[in-house]
Amino acid sequence: MKTRINGIDIDYRDQGEGLPVVFIHAFPLNQTMWDEQITALRGRCRAITLDLRGFGHSDVPAGPYTMDQMAADVRGLMAALEIDRAVLVGLSMGGYVSLALFRNYPDVMQAMVLADTRASADTHVARERRLGSAEKAERDGASAIADDMIGLLLGRTTLEKRPTVVERIRKMIEANSPQGIAAAQRGMAERRDSTYILAGIDFPTLIVVGDEDTLTPVAEAEALRAGIRGARLEIIDGAGHLSNLEQPEKFNSVLIDFINSLQ
Ligand code: MLT
Repeated sequence: MKTRINGIDIDYRDQGEGLPVVFIHAFPLNQTMWDEQITALRGRCRAITLDLRGFGHSDVPAGPYTMDQMAADVRGLMAALEIDRAVLVGLSMGGYVSLALFRNYPDVMQAMVLADTRASADTHVARERRLGSAEKAERDGASAIADDMIGLLLGRTTLEKRPTVVERIRKMIEANSPQGIAAAQRGMAERRDSTYILAGIDFPTLIVVGDEDTLTPVAEAEALRAGIRGARLEIIDGAGHLSNLEQPEKFNSVLIDFINSLQ
């Protein structure tokens, strides 16, 4: 389904009833990365996914797409769906957006799941690499970005043993527009350090990380746990950066426990 938010069409899915849980996808993917979670949560809550601007079936306006802009889009979707407060589940870039949502609209947060993400801004080197990757997307297309990223996004267990997951991620990346990929990279390069806001998080927070995640390793998840009062950390064995779709059963089990603890 599509709805007009902040001057663009945003594609979303809204399924089930009860506690609203909003899922925010990683870069450079789309909302279908949450399919296994939506299936597992059927009958337990109201699950909302969206394609962030520039991705999937949402519009691809001019960039850069800052985390604040993406957070405003999520806030706009919640308003359109008449949701005052929700559980936010963000993986990687989705976690950056969740933290921006908390910074800008703290009242909409009921609880949060931060998966395979970090609170810190990019280092100078990481920022330069991102800007180079944005240019590469525009010059060489989404397949070139898939070539660069698949080995980083997926853990060694998935790369060795689960070719269907590898293929699914490649297709998801290649279906995105190079302009959207570039605009999100430039937006992430601009993102602010969110470390200082962690101490203000006063709602239940679950942190999840794959033990084979090399992009946002376990040490980053431990730093998030240390910064957020009462946060719980779950480490998913045999998963890389995309822990939710590399080990969906383990991920779903910790997610369902957390959601049950809220109702
Ligand atoms: C993601 O998975 O969303 C990206 O790896 C985030 C990033 O590039 O920092």
